[in-house]
Amino acid sequence: MKEKSTLQERMFNELSDPTLFQSAERYGLTYLSEVRERHVYPKEEDLQNLSCFAEPMPEQTGKAQDIIDQLHSVGAPATVAQIGGRYFGFVNGSVIPAGLAAKNLSIFWDQNTAMQVISPVCSKLEVVVQQWLSDLFGFPAGVVAGFVSGTSMANFCGLAAARYRLLKKQGWDISEQGMIGAPQLRIVTSKHAHSTIVKAISLLGFGKANIEWVDTDDQGRIIPESMPVLDSRTILILQAGNVNSGSFDPFYDVCGQAKKAGDWIHVDVAFGLWEGATQRLNHLTKGFEEADSWAVDGH
Ligand SMILES: Cc1ncc(COP(=O)(O)O)c(C=O)c1O
Repeated sequence: MKEKSTLQERMFNELSDPTLFQSAERYGLTYLSEVRERHVYPKEEDLQNLSCFAEPMPEQTGKAQDIIDQLHSVGAPATVAQIGGRYFGFVNGSVIPAGLAAKNLSIFWDQNTAMQVISPVCSKLEVVVQQWLSDLFGFPAGVVAGFVSGTSMANFCGLAAARYRLLKKQGWDISEQGMIGAPQLRIVTSKHAHSTIVKAISLLGFGKANIEWVDTDDQGRIIPESMPVLDSRTILILQAGNVNSGSFDPFYDVCGQAKKAGDWIHVDVAFGLWEGATQRLNHLTKGFEEADSWAVDGH
């Protein structure tokens, strides 16, 4: 008991001493000032130095300042410089100054954003941003947003909603009755669907072997004439923004037919939806408002 109160006291002391947080901020600012000049990928020596983290689980709590110092001296050089402006690897984000500063502030708030009652401010901001995005992208009235970790999880959620709704229409409540014995649904998607779509399909129990693949052109766009006949048991998955070519599936040609058949249309628009917000490029997303779910990233 005594040991616990000593530890608690130490934690409270550290929390009320600004030095620790100031040093973390100073290190962060040093990183920012150097990131545009440094190598995008860590040097071999920096990768080797990571071995110093591989120590046995400490029996005593370490000093907070030592942990921050070590993260700065050994951890920072082994980061991938995503925000330096010369990173062209995966479709990872850069930073917006207000966003980075707000993130810094919010780590002190340490909120749980699950419900309004646990964090009124986070709920309010989500509701406001949901409306902004809906207006910006031209979504139909009544569209609601869920804020998740990224498009991988958004694809998973959109396809879970599709599974629920199409089975419900067949008189099968998946939440109650589960997958065993459920009516068979069809999954139709492009041969160039993103790997996270395939992962979501396998996690949701549809089975990758059951995917009906649609042929694409040399830019990875679905060829409308290659579409199978659709019906009300079908989840059609389209893409706006092919990760290799940037191309968009021809929503306009495909969505009308799918809607008539009673499909659920899900669109993976990880980065492509933002084109819908500009007059110069919004012809690319024409017809996508016919969809039932969209998965989009903030980056
Ligand atoms: C088309 C497409 N779908 C899904 C994803 C996965 O997004 P996230 O990394 O946000 O989970 C990406 C990532 O770049 C993507 O380009």
